[in-house]
Order: sequence, then structure tokens, then C-alpha cells
Amino acid sequence: MNDKILVCYGTRYGSAGEIAENIGEILRNHGATVDIINLKKNKVKNLETFDLVVVGSGIQMGKWTKEPLQFLKKHPVILSRKKIALFVSCMTAAKPESCNQARRNYLDNIAADFPEIIPISMGLFGGLIDTSKGNILTKAIMQAIVKSFAEEGEETPGRVDLRDWEQIRIWTEGLIPDPFDA
Ligand SMILES: Cc1cc2nc3c(=O)[nH]c(=O)nc-3n(C[C@H](O)[C@H](O)[C@H](O)COP(=O)(O)O)c2cc1C
Repeated sequence: MNDKILVCYGTRYGSAGEIAENIGEILRNHGATVDIINLKKNKVKNLETFDLVVVGSGIQMGKWTKEPLQFLKKHPVILSRKKIALFVSCMTAAKPESCNQARRNYLDNIAADFPEIIPISMGLFGGLIDTSKGNILTKAIMQAIVKSFAEEGEETPGRVDLRDWEQIRIWTEGLIPDPFDA
């Protein structure tokens, strides 16, 4: 594959960033030329030149980070002509009882907000909580989330990583075009 692919993302604590790096690495290993952009730090240049655009975010209090949403809003015409894939990293993705709602709220509803894009794929991935990060308020929320994943009577861990790298690899490989469709 010699496609040019953009993987861009917004992250608050780094989880979606590490997923984006991993997606980019996998696509590079399949021969693609990949730009990985943290939209909180850098702008996308030459958007027209990409064959596939992967846009992702971490979720906080039910919301995407603002930069990827601004990116999707800013380029409706160009993006309507591109293959687009969306992904999110969040803790509710990893709970069977809440993953369908997470998919609806964080992916289906976001795609519906941008009718000009029809994603070829949407990845719902688990998240990472590290209670050593954040301010007092976010630490308290993080501790409550982490506690909800601990067994009854079990000590609450400081770090919970629910990202399934095998799931992410399989999803990413699904983005690679079938040579027979070319
Ligand atoms: C303050 C705070 C609020 C969060 N709110 C949600 C939420 O509403 N739904 C959810 O599924 N996960 C929630 N999470 C978990 C994050 O989505 C998860 O940690 C994710 O990996 C963060 O990605 P990021 O580091 O790329 O921003 C929250 C985490 C924090 C710290």
C-alpha cells in the first residue's frame, strides 16, 4: 500500500495520543506514508494530499477534546471527498453494559454532527486512567472511575489501562484498502 494517511487527534492525558501513534506505526508497517498530528499542538498542512484521514479523541465528561471537532468543522468540503475513520479512547468502552451507549454517544452522534463525512470505520477503544495526573477535581473523578473498575474490597489501583492493543491492531488493519478494490 502506498497511500498517504493522516492520523490526527486530541488528548488530555495522552491515551488517545498513544493510540494514534500505534495506529500510525501499524499503517507505516503496511507501507503507507503517515503523518501523526496532535491537534492541540500542531496544525494539519496539505489536507488535500491525504487518501485517508483518521481523527480521534479521548473522552472527558462525555465530550471529545475540542481541537478534532474544530478540525472536522473547518474542512467540510475537503473531508467530504476523503476516506475518514474516527476513534475514541474512553473508560465506558471497556464495560459491556455501557459500551453500546459509548458507541452511540461518542461516535455515532459525532459522525451525525458532520453530515458531510461518512466514516468508513469507527473505533471504540478503552482508556487509560492515571490518578497521579490531573488537578484535585480531575484526580477525584479519576479515583471514582478507577474504583468502579475494582472488585469489591479490592484496593483501588492508581493506574488502569483498558486499551486493547490487539483490538486496535485489528481495527487499524481493517482501514487498509483491499488491493483488489484498487
Ligand atoms: C475527568 C475525567 C472525566 C472522564 N469522563 C469520561 C466519560 O464521561 N466517559 C468515559 O467513558 N470516560 C471518561 N473518562 C475516561 C477517559 O475517557 C480515559 O481516561 C481516556 O483514556 C482519556 O483519553 P486522553 O488521555 O487521550 O484524553 C474521563 C476521565 C477523566 C480524567
